[in-house]
Amino acid sequence: MAEVKNKKIKTTASDESDEKIEKTPATEVKKSKRDRKKIKLEGIPGVGRKISEKLAEVGFTDLMAIAVASPTELAAIAEIGEGQSRKIINSVREMLDLGFERADKIMKRKLEASKITTNVEGLNKLLGGGVETQAITEAYGQFASGKSQLGFQLAVGVQLPKEKGGLGKKCLFIDTENTFSPTRIVSMAKTMGLDPEKTLKNIFVARAFNSEHQIFLIEKASEMIEEKNIGLIIIDSITSHFRADYIGRGELARRQQKLNKHLHALQRLADGHNLAIYITNQVMARPDMLFGDPTTPVGGHVLAHQATYRLYLRKGRAGTRVCKLMDAANLPEAECIFKITEDGLIQVE
Ligand SMILES: Nc1ncnc2c1ncn2[C@@H]1O[C@H](COP(=O)(O)OP(=O)(O)OP(=O)(O)O)[C@@H](O)[C@H]1O
Ligand SMILES: [Mg+2]
Repeated sequence: MAEVKNKKIKTTASDESDEKIEKTPATEVKKSKRDRKKIKLEGIPGVGRKISEKLAEVGFTDLMAIAVASPTELAAIAEIGEGQSRKIINSVREMLDLGFERADKIMKRKLEASKITTNVEGLNKLLGGGVETQAITEAYGQFASGKSQLGFQLAVGVQLPKEKGGLGKKCLFIDTENTFSPTRIVSMAKTMGLDPEKTLKNIFVARAFNSEHQIFLIEKASEMIEEKNIGLIIIDSITSHFRADYIGRGELARRQQKLNKHLHALQRLADGHNLAIYITNQVMARPDMLFGDPTTPVGGHVLAHQATYRLYLRKGRAGTRVCKLMDAANLPEAECIFKITEDGLIQVE
């Protein structure tokens, strides 16, 4: 685990800001980054240089990360007593003015939420305009039902200007199954009138090696989100590593706990940076079910509660795909039909 924690986020794309950084000597960049962290963390009562360095080293680079940590977790990481850790967390919460939030502030934040187009009119309508920021949208379904294709479509869509249904922002793509397809991105970018080269450069892909690494990538994402102007985070798929890493019934509780924390971290990023989260999920067969569709999404109640929008994708007639919006709090349950083509997802009349 320690080895995983020390890994840096590796991205396979670069953009202009990367080029700029390279022109500055590497040592200088390192120093100024470390100084920035020190200033922020050393202002907290009870945090000296040593603790602040330790925290920064393991990814607690901003106050919000500390404010939402548990005292036990922080104590273990910073090698301090739990009492001291609790004190630090409480001071940070006070500094950030966390606690009750006035409803008008919540209203203001909600009003800032925007939507990303899926390029399928019916699907956008189903979602109340598109995939929403400040929310988690989950797509589940069997293999080849279109979960990843919808992800690619959104990774391109987010880059469109606002008037064309995008956010004019970039995408962070966490690939857990090694199925990210640059070729598909190029085709979809062409269809949507975007420059394919630029579109690829604006998607930062990270391979997650296991569930711990996946968690780590999200914990470390905050700084990158601001630096690169990220408007959408995709995890394809959210559950595959968790399934593989926690096998057997005895591990189930621990798996759900970890997954729950991971989803909370995602929701915090979505709220804090006004960005959208799109995650995919597999289904398991339910041989005990006699009627209806014998498949249920992995992740149980944890995912059911955390995802704001749940889309169920399945194959329809003549190569079509059917998408159903499941139990959304503020939208009616509805279905739409689309097709996956060489040019991307398209509406079926
Ligand atoms: N270039 C293309 N032209 C037309 N259809 C395509 C093209 N590329 C992929 N598809 C369609 O998309 C399907 C794969 O969809 P996708 O990769 O999104 O599945 P998935 O739901 O992510 O499955 P898994 O659970 O295996 O990851 C293919 O079976 C094919 O029907
Ligand atoms: Mg897939």
